[in-house]
Amino acid sequence: MALYFIGLGLYDEKDISLRGLEAIKRCDVVYLENYTSMLSCDVKKLEKLYGKNIILSSRELVENKAEDTILKDALSKDVAFLVIGDPMSATTHIDLRLRAEKAGIGCIVVHNASVFSAVGVTGLQLYKFGRTTSIPFQEEKWHPETPYDAIKENMNSGLHTLILLDLRPDEKKFMTVNQAIEYLLSIEDKRKEKVFSKELFCVGCARLGSLKPCIKAGNAEELLKENFGKPVHCLIVPGKLHFAEEEALELFKIHK
Ligand SMILES: C[S@@+](CC[C@H](N)C(=O)[O-])C[C@H]1O[C@@H](n2cnc3c(N)ncnc32)[C@H](O)[C@@H]1O
Repeated sequence: MALYFIGLGLYDEKDISLRGLEAIKRCDVVYLENYTSMLSCDVKKLEKLYGKNIILSSRELVENKAEDTILKDALSKDVAFLVIGDPMSATTHIDLRLRAEKAGIGCIVVHNASVFSAVGVTGLQLYKFGRTTSIPFQEEKWHPETPYDAIKENMNSGLHTLILLDLRPDEKKFMTVNQAIEYLLSIEDKRKEKVFSKELFCVGCARLGSLKPCIKAGNAEELLKENFGKPVHCLIVPGKLHFAEEEALELFKIHK
């Protein structure tokens, strides 16, 4: 009996590894985590290719009800926990793995591509990224400034910042690059520390790993006017650029 954490990659049902697919075929129960990212295909397509019924797991199920569902099943059966991207690139999944190990359930991890590596397609070097940050939907009166602070901290060290943007797939809601830029400009307006100005050079990305990714580089004001299309989006603020990075980014500049 084991709990398999299986990465599905970033695009559609066909991004799974052969090892991942073989593991799913062996499993009695299959869950799909559908709150930290989105595939470009319907769950039905996964069910057809993998030959299994898939149970959708909300954040609530994974974080608060796993002991009565996923972990309970894994005590007596082989269970697959499918994750879009890489299964170990979100704290909530690492936590689930620790809870499984504590309950005496053996865990097997099958890795896959993640947004954390896919951003390499921009030409920005992965080892020069600093702390990743995220922007949540602004609701009520909670307007965190941590993304602004993370950019500032990374900038001071010459490092790039990857900014993840909130999404709620069950409500068909996702944050766009444009909304993220507006949010950061609103913090700049308030703090005036010259961290995120309209002139700041940024890279907006959408649907990385898909056959139609969208990558656009330009200053914040220019990117605000662009349409990045369907989900999922993320934003990068480059730090100090190596000439090879500059050369690669030329490919994506809006105004050459
Ligand atoms: C928690 S992270 C992703 C974790 C996922 N398990 C992975 O390995 O990629 C979720 C955020 O990453 C970004 N993201 C995920 N997939 C993306 C993609 N294909 N293109 C652009 N951004 C993406 C979005 O900003 C999204 O809100």
